[in-house]
Amino acid sequence: MTHARTITLTVNGKSVTATVEPRTHLADFLREQQLLTATHLGCEQGVCGACTILIDGEPARSCITFAVACEGRSVTTVEGLDEDPVAAQLRDAFMEEHGLQCGFCTPGMLVSARDVVLRRPNADEERIRLEMSGNLCRCTGYVGIVNAIRRVLDARKTAAE
Ligand code: FES
Ligand code: FES
Repeated sequence: MTHARTITLTVNGKSVTATVEPRTHLADFLREQQLLTATHLGCEQGVCGACTILIDGEPARSCITFAVACEGRSVTTVEGLDEDPVAAQLRDAFMEEHGLQCGFCTPGMLVSARDVVLRRPNADEERIRLEMSGNLCRCTGYVGIVNAIRRVLDARKTAAE
């Protein structure tokens, strides 16, 4: 390895110190060095959203983020959302509403959808489609995905009443 750098960051709540090359992007780091393979790589140019993860709680595309840029940051992949209540609601809703077929886009969809649910509790269908427009799916036609997010928003509103 040439020009390798040692970085320390938090991955799914655990402190990780690793050696990476400057060119290593975060998705490769997560998949190949941390063996967190739920983060998928589609386009590898920031378009499809399959690689969406959270950095310090904000959605980001791990294919266009250098691992070295994550020094000191907190990275959460979909594996790190196993116990997250909103992610759990979304997983159930995606199944109920047929929001996935091959599942390739689903980890990124769940990370983005969770962000929409938390940030836009009153989102209507148009707003959901706009917010989710950075996540591409080649299978579902999006109707099931949008319905799943609406289902979670509705359930959370009802629970809050
Ligand atoms: Fe990162 Fe497509 S693989 S946006
Ligand atoms: Fe196949 Fe979305 S379910 S790409």
